Amino acid sequence: MKQYLFVNFKTYEESTGTKAVSLAKLLSAEFDGSVEIIPVVQALDLKEITSSASLKVFAQHIDPVFFGSNTGKILPEAVKSAGAFGTVLNHAENKVENDFIKKAVQRCKETGLKIMLCAENLKRAKQLAVFNPDFIAVEPPELIGGDISVSTANPKLISDSVKAIHKINKNIIVITGAGVKNSSDVSKALELGSQGVFVASGIVCAKDKQKALKELISGFK
Ligand code: G3P
Repeated sequence: MKQYLFVNFKTYEESTGTKAVSLAKLLSAEFDGSVEIIPVVQALDLKEITSSASLKVFAQHIDPVFFGSNTGKILPEAVKSAGAFGTVLNHAENKVENDFIKKAVQRCKETGLKIMLCAENLKRAKQLAVFNPDFIAVEPPELIGGDISVSTANPKLISDSVKAIHKINKNIIVITGAGVKNSSDVSKALELGSQGVFVASGIVCAKDKQKALKELISGFK
C-alpha cells in the first residue's frame, strides 16, 4: 500500500517564494519512490515548484469557480495548468462549508485534480467521506503547530476515523496530521490505520530541515 508524507508549506517565511522552491528541491532530493512526498504550496509558488521539483504537488486551496468573473478566487483550471496534481480543501486555517466542498470536489473532478479534505473531528470526517475525496486528513485544530502529535494525544481518533471513513468508502486514503514531529509519531499513525501524515512546522520550521525530513521518513520504514 502506498504511503504519503504531505508537507504543508502554509505561509511560513521559510516556505514562501524562493525559499519555497528550495524547500521543494530538498524534499525532491530525499524522494526515492518508497514514500510519496507531496509539497502543499501557495498558489503563487505552484508553477515554479512544479517546474523545478520532480514531485507531485498540491495547491493549498481552490475555489469552486469557472472561467469568468470571479475576482480574487483560485480557479481550478489555473491550478491544474500550473502543474498541480491536487488540492487541499477545508484546512483548519481555511475552513469552508459542506456546500462549498460539494461544489469544489465536483470542479476538481472536472479538471482532474486530486482532492484532500481536512476534518477537524470524527463527525466532520464522516460528513466529508460522503463527498468521495481521494484523501481525508484528520487534524484536531488544537494540536496543529504544537509538539504533541495526534498519534500520542488522541490515538483513538485515528483508528475510529479510519474505521468510520472506510465504512463509507474504503477507497479513501486516510492521513493523520497535527503536531507530527518525529518517526514514532509517523509509525504510530500508520499502525493505527492511516496511510500517511500531514506535516508543517516539523519540517518547515526545523533548524535542520533535511535532518527533520529524514527523521520523519524513517518512521515509514
Ligand atoms: O496541514 C498540516 C498542519 O496543519 C499540521 O501542522 O505544524 O502541526 O505539523 P503542524
